[in-house]
Order: sequence, then structure tokens, then C-alpha cells
Amino acid sequence: MRRKVIAGNWKMNMLPNEAMAFIENIVPVIKNTKNEVILCVPYTDLFYSLLTAQDTNIKIGAQNMHWEESGAYTGEVSAKMLKSINVEYVIIGHSERRQYFAETDETVNLKIKTAIKNELKPIVCVGETLEQRESGKAEEIITTQTKLALEGIDKNDVSKILLAYEPIWAIGTGKTATSEDANNSIKAIRKKVSELCGEQIANEIIILYGGSVKPENAKELFSTSDIDGGLVGGASLKVEDFSKIILSV
Ligand code: PGA
Repeated sequence: MRRKVIAGNWKMNMLPNEAMAFIENIVPVIKNTKNEVILCVPYTDLFYSLLTAQDTNIKIGAQNMHWEESGAYTGEVSAKMLKSINVEYVIIGHSERRQYFAETDETVNLKIKTAIKNELKPIVCVGETLEQRESGKAEEIITTQTKLALEGIDKNDVSKILLAYEPIWAIGTGKTATSEDANNSIKAIRKKVSELCGEQIANEIIILYGGSVKPENAKELFSTSDIDGGLVGGASLKVEDFSKIILSV
């Protein structure tokens, strides 16, 4: 049985004092959950969040990193920098990064390799646009993104990666994929992982669903055969909503 993972993606929200208050308030509510809980916070919140989450069941992640180890890349943050303060996870290839910051399948692949080398666990996002879905290309898009993301990565390292299926049309729009559609897309991603890395790794790899996950739909989504939890944006900004999602399964 794969574990359930609920990851919050705060995007460009929350100041350090808000981050610390959020963690202090949610810890007692979710302390008995068996699910893995991750908060991916802005860079400026990382250190404060790590300190506040120490000795709790909340793990802290970043939302991006550069693929080079160091160098003249003004404004960028390296994997080693994240690792040096004990960050455990990093989101790679979120659709907002692909859309607004020219992230490509190639940079996603480079970033995954650098993250793994530095012992960070990548949460790798794939997903189709509405246009791609409506023209019947969704499965081809997400399986190709998965293949390109995993290219050249040692099979044994693939199981350290978490994948997140995030249909772009469902992010921040209030529109959720039906649990059946989301589960089918995730099955297709798992099948691609099986082709590339074998059945065992495909059965082990955690694949999350993201896109307007909220307390009202979390249980149904997370109770399907292949959805192993959620990557939650808007609803991870409120203790009440995020804790309900965590406790829904
Ligand atoms: P949303 O965002 O839950 O606000 O739709 C999800 C994400 O972008 O990871």
C-alpha cells in the first residue's frame, strides 16, 4: 500500500509571521494523521517554517530551484542552498513556472537530476491545458512530459520522486477534474512509469492530483485506486481547509 501524501503549495503567499502562525495552529489538529504532510513555502519562509515545524509531522519544501550547483545566476537558489537548511522537498516544473518563467521539459529534467544528487525529493508536476484536453491529446501530453522528466534518471532514483498530475485548466479555477478522470490520467502516468522503469517502481511511486482540491472533494479524489494524495494551492492557505483535506483520508 502506498502512503498518502498531502502537500500544500503556498505559491507567492504568506509572510514569515503568517507561516509560523499557520504551522503552530495546524500542528495540534493534524498531529495524529498517518498521512505525510508537506508545506512548500516561499524561499523567505523556509527557515522560519523549518524551525517552527521541527519535531512535528510537517515537512517543508521549496517551490523551485536552479539546475546548476552554483554560479552567476542572479536571483536563483541552488539545491545545495536548500539542502543546507534541511529543506526536504522541492516542487519542480509547476505549470505556473512552465507558463510564466519559460520552464521546459529539458530544464525540468535537469532540475530533477540536480535535486536527487543533492538529496532533495522532487515533486514533479505534469498536466495538460484545456485546449489539449479538448482536442483529445491529454494523455499523450502528460505521458510525454513524464517520459521527458524521467529521461536519464537511474531507476532506483525514480522511486524517490513524487509526481503530481495537475491539469492546468483546474488550477486556481475552482474546476476540478472528476475523480474518475483524474484517476484515469494518473493511471496513464503510472503505466508510462511502468514502461520506463518496470512495474515495481510504477507501483511504488507516489502520484498526487492537483487542481482545486478542497475539503469538499478531497475524500472522493483520494479514495480512488491511483491517486495518492494532493498538491493543494488555494486551500492550503487556511488552517481549517488544509487540515480538513489532510484528515479526509
Ligand atoms: P489550486 O492550485 O489548488 O489553487 O488549484 C494547485 C497548484 O497549483 O498546485
